[in-house]
Amino acid sequence: MPSNKLILGIAVVILLLGGVYLLSKSQTSPIVSAPTGTTTSTASGTVYTLAEVQTHNTPASCWSVMSGNVYDLSSWIARHPGGEGPIKGMCGTDGTAAYMGQHGSSRRPASALALLKIGALK
Ligand code: HEM
Repeated sequence: MPSNKLILGIAVVILLLGGVYLLSKSQTSPIVSAPTGTTTSTASGTVYTLAEVQTHNTPASCWSVMSGNVYDLSSWIARHPGGEGPIKGMCGTDGTAAYMGQHGSSRRPASALALLKIGALK
């Protein structure tokens, strides 16, 4: 029967349109939750909670907050001209006061820091 084919055809078109719609929705979603539920990625970069930063509190995985931005200092510990101690002390914390107290607006520390940025604090 031709009407059966017509109905089948319409059903296939509806299914295809539905699939395309779902696919486009999943690709353009601006906010993607990571499995931990604490990290979000937006068009302007990754945003971390302080709780997440606090879990990276070892020299092997050393994150710190400076002025609202999040930095991975792990690779910097061994390279810091002022020694490993001060950087290790910042792991998993908001290190703004320690950093500003020592380096203020000095140019070299600021450019070293810029290379270590991984995102912003939520
Ligand atoms: C992630 C944070 C930090 C970064 C990126 C950083 C970066 C730097 C850089 C680039 C220098 C060399 C400056 C130059 O040659 O002009 C330096 C020196 C120094 N830093 Fe830091 N620093 C950080 C945190 C700290 C903290 C928290 C302290 C102490 C509380 C500290 C203590 C020192 C000292 C004492 C020196 C002088 C070393 C020397 O010249 O003998 N730094 N730091």
